[in-house]
Amino acid sequence: MDLIAQLTQEHQDYVFKLSTLAEVIEGIRVNGRGDYFIDAMDKLLKPLTVELDDHARREEDFLFPRLLERAPDSPVPVMIEEHAEIREKSASFGRWYPLWREGDESAYQHWADAALDLRGKFSTHMQKENLILFPLARRVLRADEIRQLMTVDDR
Ligand SMILES: [Fe+2]
Ligand SMILES: [Fe+2]
Repeated sequence: MDLIAQLTQEHQDYVFKLSTLAEVIEGIRVNGRGDYFIDAMDKLLKPLTVELDDHARREEDFLFPRLLERAPDSPVPVMIEEHAEIREKSASFGRWYPLWREGDESAYQHWADAALDLRGKFSTHMQKENLILFPLARRVLRADEIRQLMTVDDR
């Protein structure tokens, strides 16, 4: 699998994770905290913080620089701005959720708002990458260059 295919696959995985996230937040809002919800949130924490940061960094390190060279008017600068906004929401979620998990009820609104903002921002961002940026990359990069882009499997 080349990097673009892998990033696309990760986006697809995130679509499922983000819809689970929204359902769990709604479940907590209606029912209050519960073991089932906490287990589900614990499973989402790493993918939506550490792994999400890693996903964005692979785009920034391997894909964006080549696109900036080949397609100077590409939406890469906008994507970079959106990464900053997504990282801010992700970091806020990662900071507040553990406090709530340890019993601080006042942290709930902070992490839930950050997580739902993250969901909104990341969903539209992924759509732009899938529909505009990745097809552009396939057009302007040679097949051998795309093959050479590093994937997680190579590390
Ligand atoms: Fe991205
Ligand atoms: Fe992405």
